[in-house]
Amino acid sequence: MSNLSMKGKICLVTGASSGIGKATALGLAKIGATVVIVCRDAARGEAALTEIRQKCGTGDADRLIADLSSQAEIRRLADQYSRKYPHLHVLINNAGIYYTKRHVTVDGLEAMFAVNYLARFLLSNLLLDIIKRSAPARIINVAGAYHAKGKINFHDLQGEKDFDGQRANHQSKLADVLFTYELARRLKGTGVTVNCLHPGMVATSLMDKDKDFPVLFKYFYKLSKPLMKSPAKGAETSIFLASSPEVEGITGQYFVNKKVAQSCPESHDRELAKRLWDVSEKLAGLQRN
Ligand SMILES: NC(=O)c1ccc[n+]([C@@H]2O[C@H](COP(=O)([O-])OP(=O)(O)OC[C@H]3O[C@@H](n4cnc5c(N)ncnc54)[C@H](OP(=O)(O)O)[C@@H]3O)[C@@H](O)[C@H]2O)c1
Repeated sequence: MSNLSMKGKICLVTGASSGIGKATALGLAKIGATVVIVCRDAARGEAALTEIRQKCGTGDADRLIADLSSQAEIRRLADQYSRKYPHLHVLINNAGIYYTKRHVTVDGLEAMFAVNYLARFLLSNLLLDIIKRSAPARIINVAGAYHAKGKINFHDLQGEKDFDGQRANHQSKLADVLFTYELARRLKGTGVTVNCLHPGMVATSLMDKDKDFPVLFKYFYKLSKPLMKSPAKGAETSIFLASSPEVEGITGQYFVNKKVAQSCPESHDRELAKRLWDVSEKLAGLQRN
């Protein structure tokens, strides 16, 4: 990847204050991209921006602050981005959370459904015009291998009747893959590709942020961290999908270790993807008349 240049390309990376997102932004800045990071916390966002600028020796990086658990903030973010920048060549929907217990967003949605999936659905749709104008352009969704354990429970999408943290997380990740494939189908012929990926097991602070994560799990998670990928390694597939000419024109695929991989059979169910899209439009206030 060392010969690649992203000079002249603008990349928006969500959840770039830590972990895989920060490593992705850093990697893209190193190969010349203008990187705009999205963070929910101003201080952490500033620290990440300073680190990116220092490590890359580039002033060509910016940060926008938005809490992606709020649809009002997502709308403000999309508006702010579109006013500030003429193009968007790469959108990386990376921000994610894990909660053992049920958390509810300001919009009344279950938090993992809202942040891990619906925020991506809304942000991508709000930025579609600028992305299409910037074609060839790429949308990349950081999903995860656990999508394969997911079920979309339309009867209790927000886990109001019966909540389990793992089940909600798996549902949100399956939704990411279904959304990736559906958006790719809808964008055929526009020059915008949409792909998703599993980053591997990556040593980040994802689980540490969940104060209800069971103590025993925390202990084993800590023990296994040295065996996991570093955030820089975990970012490699995101950076590859954002920058490599090898994937030019490739759309509607799931990648692991920079290679096309098989996602679970349910993720290829077009009826399911269409139904999820329709429900998501309503939940995100995007219905067309
Ligand atoms: N680590 C793994 O093994 C693994 C495996 C499969 C998939 N993934 C996926 O990889 C992605 C990145 O996770 P990670 O492991 O790098 O975890 P991480 O270090 O916790 O990074 C998550 C990022 O998302 C941000 N974020 C969380 N909620 C947000 C919100 N409401 N608004 C804006 N930003 C928000 C976090 O910001 P703060 O710094 O403010 O918390 C952080 O920058 C996630 O989608 C995760 O599901 C990770």
